[in-house]
Amino acid sequence: MEKNKVAVVGAGLMGNGIAQACATAGYEVVNIDTFEAAIEKAQETVEKLFNRKVAKGSMTEERKAEILGHLTYSGDLADVKGAFLIIEAVPEKIEIKKETFKKVDELADLEAVIVSNTSGLSISEIASVTNRPDKVMGAHFFYPAPVMKLLELVRGLVTSDETYDTVKEFAGKIGKTTVDAPEFPGFMVNRILVPMQNEAAFMVMEGSKPEDVDNAMKLGCNHPMGPIELTDFVGIDTMLATMTGLYNGFHDSKYRPCPLLETMVKSGMLGKKSGQGFYKYD
Ligand code: CAA
Repeated sequence: MEKNKVAVVGAGLMGNGIAQACATAGYEVVNIDTFEAAIEKAQETVEKLFNRKVAKGSMTEERKAEILGHLTYSGDLADVKGAFLIIEAVPEKIEIKKETFKKVDELADLEAVIVSNTSGLSISEIASVTNRPDKVMGAHFFYPAPVMKLLELVRGLVTSDETYDTVKEFAGKIGKTTVDAPEFPGFMVNRILVPMQNEAAFMVMEGSKPEDVDNAMKLGCNHPMGPIELTDFVGIDTMLATMTGLYNGFHDSKYRPCPLLETMVKSGMLGKKSGQGFYKYD
């Protein structure tokens, strides 16, 4: 099959960025979301980001038009048809992932590979609802997806070598470096990173100022963002879901999620995307 069309299912923070990264590399991309509001927000976000780059001089108007020319949006899951690669980036809940994979499996071309951008759920479990578990694997991007150079590749129990090779070749074409991560909760990066963010949240709960915790890690360890700022940036709900996945997956109390994060999520304080997290945003 021709390998030029990519479908990205989910137009939230991650799906939107992944679609941009693929379109920038020259793939014909359809970004699909069944929520119309999500599509509108994704289009607005890309437009705003590209306008900022043009104003700053890091992108020309021609290049902007060229990339946007590769990027279409759809509310219809049937538009996965014709894609050699389908990237799922729906919310980090196993039931939603499974339902999406079941539907996509029915609609996609038989030879198509379907990858999940899950940050820690079981690839084998997600693959089990499809009729092509050998053509399913994990491809975990990092936020912001167009900028971060890493792609974690995660094979399920029955992922074929051919599927792995297809995804690895695709990763190279969009300019990402890959690591082979184990199919355990958190994969590689999040298993190291998220407990650090969780511990930072405990420190804030115990009375430390968020600015102090962030400055400690920025100035003491040269991190580009402090752990609290990063939690707001990625989304407190996303970070908490990953931490809860580590806790439930390893059955180990060392991964207990910080109660402050749970309270913040319950009260709608999700970080930058909701305008309020540990810090306030306009
Ligand atoms: N989407 C697309 N591009 C973006 C972007 C976004 N959300 N945010 C910034 N950029 C681009 C800018 O347009 C700019 O591009 P140009 O150079 O072409 O103009 C470039 O990135 C640099 O941006 P800025 O100059 O505005 O800001 P910066 O130099 O401070 O970099 C940053 C911003 C790259 C986000 C940097 O702060 C950073 O690396 N932060 C840490 C990010 C990180 O740790 N990510 C991992 C999160 S964990 C995760 O993702 C796991 C998970 O499962 C969710």
